[in-house]
Amino acid sequence: METKREQWGTRFGFIMAAAGSAVGLGNIWRFPYLTGANGGGAFILIYLGFIFLIGSTVMLAEFTVGRMTQKAAVGAYKSVSRNWTFAGVMGVLSAFLIMGFYPVVGGWATAYILKSVTGLLSDSAAIGDAFGAFISAPIQPLLWTVLFMLFNIFIVIRGVGKGIEMASKVLMPLLIILLLSVAGYGLTLPGAQEGIRFLFVPDFSAVTGNTFLSALGQAFFSLSLGMGCMVTYGSYLPKDSKLPSSAGVVTVMDTFFAILAGVAIFPALFAFGMEPAVGPGLVFVVVPQIFARMGFIGPVLSLVFFVALMIAALTSSVSLLEVVVAYLMDEKKWQRSKAVIATGLVMLVLCSLASLSLGIWSGWTIPGLGVGFFDFFDILTDKVFLAIGGLFLAVFAGFQLKKEDLYRELTNHGETTFPLFDAWYFLLKFIVPVAIGIVAIFGLLDIEQPVLMITGLVIIGLLALFSKKL
Ligand code: TRP
Repeated sequence: METKREQWGTRFGFIMAAAGSAVGLGNIWRFPYLTGANGGGAFILIYLGFIFLIGSTVMLAEFTVGRMTQKAAVGAYKSVSRNWTFAGVMGVLSAFLIMGFYPVVGGWATAYILKSVTGLLSDSAAIGDAFGAFISAPIQPLLWTVLFMLFNIFIVIRGVGKGIEMASKVLMPLLIILLLSVAGYGLTLPGAQEGIRFLFVPDFSAVTGNTFLSALGQAFFSLSLGMGCMVTYGSYLPKDSKLPSSAGVVTVMDTFFAILAGVAIFPALFAFGMEPAVGPGLVFVVVPQIFARMGFIGPVLSLVFFVALMIAALTSSVSLLEVVVAYLMDEKKWQRSKAVIATGLVMLVLCSLASLSLGIWSGWTIPGLGVGFFDFFDILTDKVFLAIGGLFLAVFAGFQLKKEDLYRELTNHGETTFPLFDAWYFLLKFIVPVAIGIVAIFGLLDIEQPVLMITGLVIIGLLALFSKKL
């Protein structure tokens, strides 16, 4: 029995869902620490360049391919040419891998909501050790990951409109209010302007070749590109919705949230004379330390901050879960509930490996690769699969699809106009592949992880050979 494809109920609902996917740990956890580690304003400027030139171009291409084919990641490629099926399968594989560690961090955020008001902030000197002890324990972080995954399953099982769209429409506005409150309070602290200067006055002396690579990788991760996520969301769009403005709004919102997270953290950080360049521990160690110095308001703001972090992570992880669920529904004709539960369970197994790799297995690495499971999932997706996935999508849309078909889809068969079409098409066909190509080559030359990079390429090669039947 062929049932009608699910659709977003309203344009607002779709934008909230797509922005919900984009705004996540990438914005609130990763963007601030990358900015801190790469010298502040100069990094932000380069990042903005990539976001608007490359990111928004690829996002529009993903929406277009999704709506044109009315299929999720794999089906979108496959319905045009079987030779391209592997690129979609790579997206589904990336979804599993990202969901092998993302919910672990989502679980930490959930735990820190409770910890904020149960004494974590009472001894600011112990906050760093407490974080280390928490994430390396065998059972506790896993239970929080299970809870976080249950939230995901609960939302995605209800479907596109009643689940993902409904949750995003409530949670995204709430997220803005929560982050604005923390940022607003931070700005009132004496010495806060130092943090604003750090964020907005570029200092190019800290820029190296690596800054560009981190900025481009971050642009892809933050906008949820390169693995069919926005293709899947685009496939639920009605034929009369406007694609270019949607891609524009989502790109701007994602950027707004990244900057807002920076404003929530850096002014307060400088006000208390702390170090900006501390790396991934920034949000779970330095931020609670800041709140611990604020007196009675500290635990309240900390609670608000970690609720915001959890919400941001949740509306992103549902989009990753949906990529796999949509594949199973489209291509394997599974029921939504069966697909959600089976996929959720597999992801939980991967998360357990990732979580344990930070604790009792922290001495053990995957033979030959030199990293544990958490880093393996993270590096393989972030440094290899997403960028190459974005490259494939741009080449597929630019060279395999017909220019007239893209134009027709983008203008809703002539109902609307898209004056920037030629510029967009040029960026997509030439600039995006070249830019990503350069990054991919640098990634491969990254001598720190050569075996891992080669493993990634071998996996892609095997997919290209064997995935035609999937
Ligand atoms: N964009 C999300 C974040 O910033 C993470 C995410 C969700 C993602 N879906 C994705 C990243 C698809 C890459 C691809 O946290």
